[in-house]
Amino acid sequence: MSYLQIDKLKVAYGNNIVLHDIHLAVGKGEMIALLGPSGCGKTTLLNALCGFLPVHSGTVAINGRDITHSSPEQRNITMVFQSYALWPHLTVAQNIGYGLKVRRVKKEEITRRVQALLKIINLEGYAEIKVTALSGGQRQRVALARALAIEPDVLVLDEPLSNLDAKVRLNVRHEIKALQKRLGFTSLIVTHDQQEALVMADRIAVLNNGRIEQIGTPEAIYHRPATPFVADFMGADNCITPDDGQGRTLYFRSADIAMHAALPSAPGGLTLEGIVEESAFLGHHYRHSVRCGGKILLADSATCWPDRSPVVLHVPDAALHAFEPAL
Ligand SMILES: Nc1ncnc2c1ncn2[C@@H]1O[C@H](COP(=O)(O)OP(=O)(O)OP(=O)(O)O)[C@@H](O)[C@H]1O
Ligand SMILES: [Mg+2]
Repeated sequence: MSYLQIDKLKVAYGNNIVLHDIHLAVGKGEMIALLGPSGCGKTTLLNALCGFLPVHSGTVAINGRDITHSSPEQRNITMVFQSYALWPHLTVAQNIGYGLKVRRVKKEEITRRVQALLKIINLEGYAEIKVTALSGGQRQRVALARALAIEPDVLVLDEPLSNLDAKVRLNVRHEIKALQKRLGFTSLIVTHDQQEALVMADRIAVLNNGRIEQIGTPEAIYHRPATPFVADFMGADNCITPDDGQGRTLYFRSADIAMHAALPSAPGGLTLEGIVEESAFLGHHYRHSVRCGGKILLADSATCWPDRSPVVLHVPDAALHAFEPAL
């Protein structure tokens, strides 16, 4: 049985329904990433789970207990915000212990739990320091510890890493994942970043316009997108539509294209002839814009093909995501 169960959840702002029939079953200790473009309803879903927003219809249950209409205080769910939302005038220890103090936990018990958490987030020795003296990555770790201090049934994180610079982000990403594995908390993490979702989540739910388009393991979402939207969102940057609107639409990644000077002998898959129009150096490889008939495709290669080179592009069958035309 699932631990967090969301059924047919609808949430609206006034007459504007922004979440439609959300169904999500999360196992105990599982981390789900909610991935989707800006405005698709990710934050709204977290707010509804925490009880900050009323639900239009549908149900939310944790461990079999219906919490659909419980107040935020009655549900044991905590949120970690993008902005950290720490108390600037309090120390690290006071911030981490804040929720426990509000819950009137005994002083010695608060000290014990705060110490244990400081160790977990690798900030031992920082207890008495004001949070304003910490770096972004350290603050986000404090925010995480504060959320974990009350031992929530479910932890929700709304783009917790997006204020951090790229390198710190990678570190904190791995730290959160390692903690989740070690402590076994059940969590939903919102992100725009497909790689973050792939690295951190046990399963990914891709949201589009207030609906879950697909939910599955990172591998399934990446290799077997169920809809054109998911294929496109997960980085299939090339799309070929049939001219007559009758055949299947093909999506594929620039990284999955091989560039050849001449047609390989027994290609299989998809083969297209084209002319290189331009190239860009992306560090790990070059990305070429290749004109194939009336269409520009993006193709990656370790070497740079000069502009105006004639090329043959080949995409293996396994890298092609094909969709029947919408009815
Ligand atoms: N307080 C509000 N009042 C009215 N409409 C809102 C409110 N908050 C969000 N919306 C609308 O609900 C939809 C979903 O917003 P939401 O904030 O959940 O998106 P999101 O997926 O979190 O986007 P982002 O990635 O930009 O944070 C949007 O169309 C937004 O305009
Ligand atoms: Mg949001």
